[in-house]
Formats: sequence, C-alpha cells, structure tokens
Amino acid sequence: MSASKIPTAAVLGWPIKHSRSPLIHRHWLTRYGIEGDYVRHAVAPEEIGEFLSGFAGGPFIGANVTVPHKEAAFAAVAKADAVATALGAVNTLWLEKGDLIGSNTDALGFLANLDQYVPDFGAGGGPAIVLGAGGAARAVIHALKTRGFAPVYVVNRSLDRAEAMVTRFGPPVVAATWQDVPGLLKEATLLVNTTSLGMEGQPPLEIDLEPVQDTMLVTDIVYAPLETPLLKAARVRGLATVDGLGMLLHQAAPGFERWFGVRPEVTDELRRIILSDM
Ligand code: ATR
Repeated sequence: MSASKIPTAAVLGWPIKHSRSPLIHRHWLTRYGIEGDYVRHAVAPEEIGEFLSGFAGGPFIGANVTVPHKEAAFAAVAKADAVATALGAVNTLWLEKGDLIGSNTDALGFLANLDQYVPDFGAGGGPAIVLGAGGAARAVIHALKTRGFAPVYVVNRSLDRAEAMVTRFGPPVVAATWQDVPGLLKEATLLVNTTSLGMEGQPPLEIDLEPVQDTMLVTDIVYAPLETPLLKAARVRGLATVDGLGMLLHQAAPGFERWFGVRPEVTDELRRIILSDM
C-alpha cells in the first residue's frame, strides 16, 4: 500500500494549527496497531461548502469538523443523526455509499467526561447553570436536558443568544443575565462554564462561590489551563470539580470507531500525552 492510500481522516477548521485532535487519533492508531493516519486540514470559510460537496472524491475517509465549520457541515450532509439535528451542528463526518453523513459527539463527550468522574451524574437532576451561549453551550444544554436537569439557566453577556437557546431547546431552558447569577447559585446543583473566560490569554472567570450549596458540582469546558481560575476557586471552596480535557477526548472516540473500526479507550496515558503537549 502506498503512503497516499493509507486510510486517512482529518480535522477541518480555520485556523486549525492548534488542534490537538491528531495527537489523540494518532495515539489510538498506534495503540491499536491500525494502519491509518489523521491530519489537520485547513479549509477557509468561503471554501467549506465546495470542499464538503466534493468530500467523497477527496483524500479523506472521514473528518472531524471544528470552529467555524460545524453549522456549514450540518447544512452540507445528506443525513444527520438525531443529536446533530437537535444542535444544528455537525462535528463528525463519514461516508456511506458515497453520501456524506454527519453526527455530533460534543454532547456525548461532555456527558462521558462527567460520567467518568462523578458517580450517578445527573441522577438527581436539579437546577443547572450554563455560562455562555455559543456553539459549545449548545451541546452542553442539549446534554443536560437529556439528563433531566431543570431548570437549565443559560447565562450570557448578550441576552439574545441566551434567548436563542430557549427558542431552540424549549423548557427546561431559561435565559438569564450575569446579574442573576448570585441568586441562581443558591439553588444550583451544577455550574458549567462554556465561555472563553479563564482560557489561557483570556480574562479569568470570577464568581463568588460562597453562597452555593456544598454539593454543587463545577465543570469547565476550557482545558488549557487544566485548572481554570473557576475550577481553582471551586476546589478552594471545597466543591467537586471536573476539568474539560475529558470532553475533548471522549468526543473524539465515536469518529475513530466509525473510521477505523475500533472503539478506543480514553485513558490516563492519553490525558498525559495531551497535557505534555500543552
Ligand atoms: P464557542 O463556539 O466556543 O462556544 P463562541 O460562539 O464564540 O464560542 O461563544 C463564546 C461564549 O463566551 C459566548 O457565550 C460569549 O458571550 P457573548 O455571546 O455575549 O459574546 C462568551 N464570552 C466571551 N468573552 C466574554 C467576556 N469577556 N465576558 C462574558 N462572556 C464572554
């Protein structure tokens, strides 16, 4: 088999050079002894439609889709699964009889990460607070709705984006402002940050966690740094926390299985590999 014929999947984005997905998939390819490859592939926003319409004739057997192409990928697929349809966004692509099929594994990745660290995650439901109303929030809100959290308060700087989440998902989603947060925190069982606050190079997320219940769980989808200022404040307050790295790892697994035929494991070794690259 020539090098160019090795089954190859890609991550499509713009920009794409910081994506850690190749590290994850190449680790699994090596671990399971599979002849294959996974590469970064930059596609400009004005080219994504044409690129995806010609996907079946291109070099890749499948792809992950990242910012800013997830909605364009949803528009381009011949068929989308139920989660992708609920989110209006696709992050995983493959071919069936020449047709481009799309799925969204972000919600599953979010839940799998929490399930790995929190016994009976979501068993009691209860009020949840989601900070942010961008693409990542969409997946988190869908995930929490499927686990029975209610209400799911969506807090956003621009309220119209929070209200768009209410329109998309209906009850139990409730739009809220940052001014509402201190009051909402008194009853919340879960706090999730989906904003870019706390990410390396961004301002920290500063919230007073004193009024919260001792059993509230705090998670951040930001994973660089691994312990964000929010997670550190939660730990100091004595709350249970889960970092965001596992969501990145778990959302990758279904695509790998689809393209290469093995359900890969998310291990501590893989976590260490990603962390040593940061
Ligand atoms: P993603 O697709 O990764 O979720 P996004 O769509 O750019 O990214 O969303 C980023 C989120 O972080 C938004 O909820 C954004 O709030 P706005 O919709 O009001 O822009 C939030 N965000 C980013 N910087 C922020 C800041 N300085 N203060 C408050 N929220 C911020």
